[in-house]
Amino acid sequence: MSDTEKLFLWNCWYVAAWDHELLDGKKLARTILEKPVVVFQGESGKYIALDDRCCHRGAPLSMGRVEQDCIRCMYHGMKFDSDGICVQIPGQDRIPKTMRVRSYPIEERDHLIWIWMGDPALADPDLIIDYEPLGDPGWRGLPAYLHYDANWLLIVDNLSDFAHLAFVHTNTLGGSEEYAYTTKPVEIERLENGFRVERWHMNADSPPFHKKVIADKDAKIDRRNIGHMQVPGIFFLESLFAPAGTGAEKGNLDGVRQYRNCQYMTPETRRSTHFFWNYLHNFDLENPNVAISLKDSLFEGFYEDKEIIEAQQVLLDNDPGFRLRALEADVALAHFRNVLKTKIKQETADIDRQRPAAVG
Ligand code: FES
Ligand SMILES: [Fe+2]
Repeated sequence: MSDTEKLFLWNCWYVAAWDHELLDGKKLARTILEKPVVVFQGESGKYIALDDRCCHRGAPLSMGRVEQDCIRCMYHGMKFDSDGICVQIPGQDRIPKTMRVRSYPIEERDHLIWIWMGDPALADPDLIIDYEPLGDPGWRGLPAYLHYDANWLLIVDNLSDFAHLAFVHTNTLGGSEEYAYTTKPVEIERLENGFRVERWHMNADSPPFHKKVIADKDAKIDRRNIGHMQVPGIFFLESLFAPAGTGAEKGNLDGVRQYRNCQYMTPETRRSTHFFWNYLHNFDLENPNVAISLKDSLFEGFYEDKEIIEAQQVLLDNDPGFRLRALEADVALAHFRNVLKTKIKQETADIDRQRPAAVG
C-alpha cells in the first residue's frame, strides 16, 4: 500500500452525499479519500458511483451525459455502464477490455448515499450504520452539508469534546462558560468501534439554539447529552432538555424535549472533509420553522467550529513535528484515535499480505 492509502480506512462505508444533492439528474463530482468520484442517479433510479476520470484521456465523467444507467464522456463520446465498463466507442467497433473505469458499491438509506471505497468484495450493505430517527416520522429535521479545510480527525476531536461548547459556542450551542467548569462526563464507555459519553448539566439556562424554538425561554432546565462516536467518523448525539428538578435523571420524561443529531465526517483529502448532518427534534412537529431554526443555529455553531479548526489545521501544517497533548477530558478522543489507528494498521497488513498473492 502507498503511504497515502495508509492514511485512511478503506473497507468501510462512508457517506458520499445526501440524496437531494443528486436530484434532477445532477452528476456530483466529489473527491473521497483523495479519489475523484462521480455520483449520480441513473434513469432507472439506480444510484451509481464511478471514477470521475475517463480512462481514455482523463476527462471528468461528471462533465458527461447520463443515458439510461450509463454515462457518456463528453470529450470523445465513450459510454460507460453502471459497472464502469465501456459499452460504446464512437467510430470504433472493437472495445478493449481495459477500457473501463472503476465503479464503487453505493447504497441509499434514509436519504443518505453511502459509498464503499475499499475492496468491493467486502462491501456488505448490512455494515451500514443506520440512524433510525432519520426514517422515523416522530422526528423532524433538515439535511445539511458543510465543507471543512481540515483533516476529519480534527472534527472528530471537536465533537468528542463537550468542553469546547462553553468557549467556542458560548452564544450559540453552549449557553455559558459555566458548562465547562461545572459539568464532567458521567461516564466514558470505550467501545471496540469508538466510544459513548454521557454528560449532565443540572439547573441550567437553555442554550440559545433551544430558546429560539420554545416559548418558556427563561425556565431552568436539566440537560443531558449522550454522544456516540463510531469508526470511521460517525457521530450520534442524543440531547434531552427537561424542566429543572423534575427527575429526568431518574427516568421521568414529563415535559421533556429531545433532539437527535447525526453527523458524518468523510475525508475528502488528508486535509479536507465533507461534513453531513441532520439535527432532528421530536416536539412541535407540525411547525416546519422549528427544523429551519435549528438548521440555521447549527450552521452558526458549526461555522464557529470551522473557524477555529481550520486555523488549527494551518498551524499544524506549518509544523508537522508539533505534538498534540491530552487533557483528562480528552480520554474519549484519544481512545477513538487509537481504535482507528489500530484498524488502519490491521487493514494495511491484510492488504499487503494479499497483494503479492494476487499479482503472482
Ligand atoms: S477523454 Fe473521455 S472519451 Fe476521450
Ligand atoms: Fe462544536
